[in-house]
Amino acid sequence: MKIHIFKTESEASEFASKIFLDHLNHKKNSVFCFATGRSPIHLYKNFVLNYQKNLTDWSKVVTFNLDEYVGYNGTEKNSYRKFMNDHLFSKININLENTYVPNGIGDLEKNCFDFEKNIINHHGIDVLLLGLGVNGHIGFNEPNTPFSSLTHVVKLHEQSLKDHAKHFFNNNINEVPKEAVTMGIKSIMNAKKIVLLAFGETKTNILQKLIENEVTKKVPASVLQLHPDCHVICDQIAASKLTNTSLYNQLHFYN
Ligand code: GLP
Repeated sequence: MKIHIFKTESEASEFASKIFLDHLNHKKNSVFCFATGRSPIHLYKNFVLNYQKNLTDWSKVVTFNLDEYVGYNGTEKNSYRKFMNDHLFSKININLENTYVPNGIGDLEKNCFDFEKNIINHHGIDVLLLGLGVNGHIGFNEPNTPFSSLTHVVKLHEQSLKDHAKHFFNNNINEVPKEAVTMGIKSIMNAKKIVLLAFGETKTNILQKLIENEVTKKVPASVLQLHPDCHVICDQIAASKLTNTSLYNQLHFYN
């Protein structure tokens, strides 16, 4: 695991977006997996700016997304499909038919199966983006999710419901859907390269556990220690509780 610590979120996001854009410049039909939440917003802005300067062609790119709320059809204010359309897809020349967001309505078991099949049909994910839940979830893989899990339906933990109510649902926990469809831990770990973003005060404790503690199902993100090409990209605030600095000859400080 490589840990890249930047002074600010915007510098960190620029570095992260470069990983995707460099890949895209070498492979026009790159297969990416994207995340929602607050952490990737700067990164998507960089993609859009880059596209507007005519530097990138997204016409052959295929994207997957990590998760979606159960019961959402993609038009709701907080739907992850809508988030992706608003922040990125409507602003670049991507073919919407090549953008796969888990489907939270209808036959969920079949949706999960089809989602995994689509990943295989596109020969796997080249670069996958992750945010980090304050309880260590990645996608919506809550603590104690088996590391062998593929795309599945999950019940959101109390902590996630509270966080989502606070950040996206005007503090009204009753409005937060109680279930989601998420890529599993195995589906995530199968990606060739992983980029995880973590910014700000609320991520300090969990980032320390992810990087410095043992790999455990209790902290799903800790599994990333086992991935051969995982980049953790964070700001100095999120990194402020890392203690074991002697371990980090791979630590990268920029600026
Ligand atoms: C949600 C999403 C995750 C995301 C996480 C972090 O739980 N399901 O995919 O990574 O939030 O969100 P934020 O970046 O807003 O802290």
